This record gives sequence, structure tokens and C-alpha cells, in this order.
Amino acid sequence: MAHAPPAGVALTAIGVALIRERESRRPDRLYDDPLAAAFVAAAREDFHRTVDGAARWSRVESLAEQFFAGRSVGVRLVDDRVADAVAAGCRQIVLLGAGLDTRAFRMDLPAEVTVFELDLPELFAFKEPVLRAAGARPTARRHVLPIDLRAEWSTALRAKGFRADLATHWIDEGALGYLPVAEHRRVLADLTALSAPRSRFGLSRFVVDHDAPPYAELRRLVAGGTGAGDVERPGERWLAEHGWRTEFVAWDDMIVPLGRDVAVGDPDVGVVLAVRGHA
Ligand SMILES: C[S@@+](CC[C@H](N)C(=O)[O-])C[C@H]1O[C@@H](n2cnc3c(N)ncnc32)[C@H](O)[C@@H]1O
Repeated sequence: MAHAPPAGVALTAIGVALIRERESRRPDRLYDDPLAAAFVAAAREDFHRTVDGAARWSRVESLAEQFFAGRSVGVRLVDDRVADAVAAGCRQIVLLGAGLDTRAFRMDLPAEVTVFELDLPELFAFKEPVLRAAGARPTARRHVLPIDLRAEWSTALRAKGFRADLATHWIDEGALGYLPVAEHRRVLADLTALSAPRSRFGLSRFVVDHDAPPYAELRRLVAGGTGAGDVERPGERWLAEHGWRTEFVAWDDMIVPLGRDVAVGDPDVGVVLAVRGHA
């Protein structure tokens, strides 16, 4: 029996699995993630074993519903960037705060690609038994690193076979925003030091009202997690100053081909796409 993270930031991964499970059921789905249903079923069962589990599960479901439209499109945009990176020759993919992501299984990535998944130990204590029970087999090589990004992690990454001389595609889909700013900066510095020329990184640029109801509820739900304020996050300028070529793409332009009604009407919201230049 896999135990779902009961609280803290690892719980947010269950919310995103709910989103991917819902998207996968749509006839016009933007991606298909069959394993999301296995995570959702296991988490639901585990939540319902505890006294207030049914109520907490409803809160997670309700939050996932509120974030669904934008977040689901965001998953697909990251899928597209992964496919582009692999086509451009990246043979290493590192997921910072991998959560219940299953790209190593569902994207038909080539066997010569290695996916490194970094997340908290309690997350993998739930994820790995569910994957085993589902008989899931990754198409790419997959390594799991139960680590805390607030501590030093690059030694563990190298120990799993990561090579700093190969181009890497780094993915952050929300984990870095949970770190205190100093640790956020250190993670960027560490991944920069490990990035061979032509490595890639996408950094989201949001303008959100953190006091708006869904964000306030999310904060309450993960209370006890790594939580962090939203001041002076390193962004495009930091990357440019540290040897990355950057290009900003507005969210409203990226979503056009996907045909979903999730425009934000703010040209400053989008993703900074960074490619590591030659040293
Ligand atoms: C919003 S979830 C996103 C998960 C995944 N990337 C996805 O899109 O499904 C954020 C993830 O970051 C992880 N995370 C947050 N703080 C972390 C830390 N200090 N060290 C490692 N992982 C962390 C959480 O456990 C969680 O799985």
C-alpha cells in the first residue's frame, strides 16, 4: 500500500496528477498520461483511510479543478519543449521537483536518453510502489533521486551517472518557487555549473496575485512544506549574466496552436527559454 504525502509541498504533486488524469480522459486531450489514473486512485484510497481524509481529498480535487485549464496546457508546453530538446540532441533530462511526472514512460523517449527525477523522499515513497504495482516500464533510462533541493544535490546526481559534458534539458514546473530565494538562486548556480553548451532551461515568468483565493488555499493546504515568499526571484537577467542565451516567449503566443481558451492577456507572462552558450 503506497502512502500519499499527507501534507507539505509533495502534496502538490497529487494535484498535478489529478490534472493530468482529467486531461487524459478528454477526447481532445493534449497528452495522454495513463499512469496519472493509478496515482490518483492510490492517493484517493490512502487519503480515505484517515479520519479527515475525505474532506482533505475534496480540497485537493477542488484546487486541481481551479488550476486545471492553465496547468494542463502548461504540461503540454513542457512536453513540446522536451521533444524539441531531444530532437536537438539533448540526451539528459533533469526534472527538478519531478513529482508524479511520467514523461520517462509516456513520451516514447529514445532509450539513449536518461531522465533524472529529483524530488523529496516522501514523494518517491509514494510514487515508486504505484509505478511497480502498475508494471510501468520507462522507454528512456530513468534514475530517481530522493533529495531535498534546499541541500546540496549535484553530487548525488553525478553519482547516478549524470555527465556535465553532455547537453542537458532542465525542467522546473513549480518546485523552485517553493524554495527560499537563496536556495532557488543556488539551484540555478549549480545547474548552470553542470550545463554543457547547448543545454536548455525554461524559466516561467508569472504575474499572479498570491492572495487570490486558489493561491491562498494552496498555501494553506501545503502548510508545513518548504514555503517561500515571492521576492526577488532570479530570472531572465540572472540567466543572461551567467552565460545563458535567453529568449522570452509570451504565454498567449505559445498557446495559440493548442486551441484552448486560457489566454491571460498579459504580454509579460510567459517563459524564458534559455540555451547555454559556449564557455
Ligand atoms: C507543483 S509540484 C510539480 C510536480 C511535477 N513537476 C509536475 O508537474 O507534476 C512541485 C514538486 O516540487 C517538489 N518539491 C518542492 N520542494 C522541494 C524540495 N525542497 N526538494 C525537492 N523537491 C521539492 C514537491 O515535492 C512536488 O513534487
